Amino acid sequence: MLRIGLIGTGTVGGGVIQILEQKIACICAKSEEEVAPYKAKGYKVSTNADEMIAGNDIDVLVELAGGYNMPRKWILAALESGKHVVTANKALLAKYGHEIFPLAAKKGLHVLFEAAVGGGIPIIRSLQEGLLGSTVESLSCIINGTCNYILSRMAEEGLDFDVVLKDAQRLGFAEADPTFDIEGIDSAHKTALLASLCSGHRVDFEKIFVSGISKITAQDIAIAKELGCCVKLLGIYRRDGERVDARVHPCFVPLEHQLASVNRVLNAVYLQCDNLGETLQTGAGAGRLPTASAVVADLVSLARSTDTGSRKALPMGWFNVENSATLVPISETSARYYLRFTSRDACGVLAKITKILADNNISIETIIQKDVNDPGKVSIVVITENTLDSKLTKAVDAVNALPEIVEKSQVIRFLA
Ligand code: HSE
Repeated sequence: MLRIGLIGTGTVGGGVIQILEQKIACICAKSEEEVAPYKAKGYKVSTNADEMIAGNDIDVLVELAGGYNMPRKWILAALESGKHVVTANKALLAKYGHEIFPLAAKKGLHVLFEAAVGGGIPIIRSLQEGLLGSTVESLSCIINGTCNYILSRMAEEGLDFDVVLKDAQRLGFAEADPTFDIEGIDSAHKTALLASLCSGHRVDFEKIFVSGISKITAQDIAIAKELGCCVKLLGIYRRDGERVDARVHPCFVPLEHQLASVNRVLNAVYLQCDNLGETLQTGAGAGRLPTASAVVADLVSLARSTDTGSRKALPMGWFNVENSATLVPISETSARYYLRFTSRDACGVLAKITKILADNNISIETIIQKDVNDPGKVSIVVITENTLDSKLTKAVDAVNALPEIVEKSQVIRFLA
């Protein structure tokens, strides 16, 4: 029997309690008010997490409170005192995994985190177990439901980002402060964990190139559609010899690609593996019961391994600081690019832009001129052939410096 101590009675914690019914040894939350409904149902409750962790009533700490500082302290204390840990806290693991996983390994304890990436999609266990017969060559994932919801609705309804964001907040699909989601930070936390698992080396999320979706316009999405694509915020991992290419940015995804049909709040992880080939895992990326289902799966797996006496934790060497991945700098990556320049409608500007691109050895695949709402301005859209990022950035900086350019230019990569 596994004695569970749970911290956090919010959306996911509430879902876990609902699924497990009475099988929780102690429920802990910040205030008496939060624990009162559970006390009334006969649960042992606490408002003192340190006491619960230090005591002898639990075998596993389920941390569902979120945040950095307190959960870090609780998890390290739980491991020090011989308790396993189950958490959904991707931000904490991405930031402090290098402290948490080595301590767990030293103590022979498990830290399970299926719910941290992709909600109910069992991608962590797939990478740690089911896919061990193959090497993951590349991974592209939609792992932020807020962004996918906003981009899907912009595409479906032709609306601008700000309008959809406000509506998403009204409907509860976006946080009151959506910065972590829309600027790609949440996706970077999750991409760091997935890239670490795929590569077997610690991928530091602070070194991942991140670009969010707040500058994507209705026009970008309309042009993507004309080109047979949709726009998705992707977390990307690729093996590049001994190095790891890990990044998060919006991408033009061809409509025939499996990821293009993953819409609204759904998440998906698309993998290309040497032996297996292609595979797509998709499902709910957030929400009470889908995420709770992943937490409960971790608990069942833990209960099985402790029941059989096989307490050996999974190897976590991939998260040691000494085992850090060398990341490919974004300047060394290459892609086909969508560039949208907003210019005064002046004679010769197109020639100036194409000259800058030619001077930087950038080959143009297509050029389209589009009207914008303001009659004095035009959008000049350029699709490049495969181009090195450093060359592209130099050229776009030079275009931005032209007197005719009236807005910072838009740059979106095509999914390779
Ligand atoms: N905020 C995340 C999302 C869910 O929008 O997908 C939790 O990981």
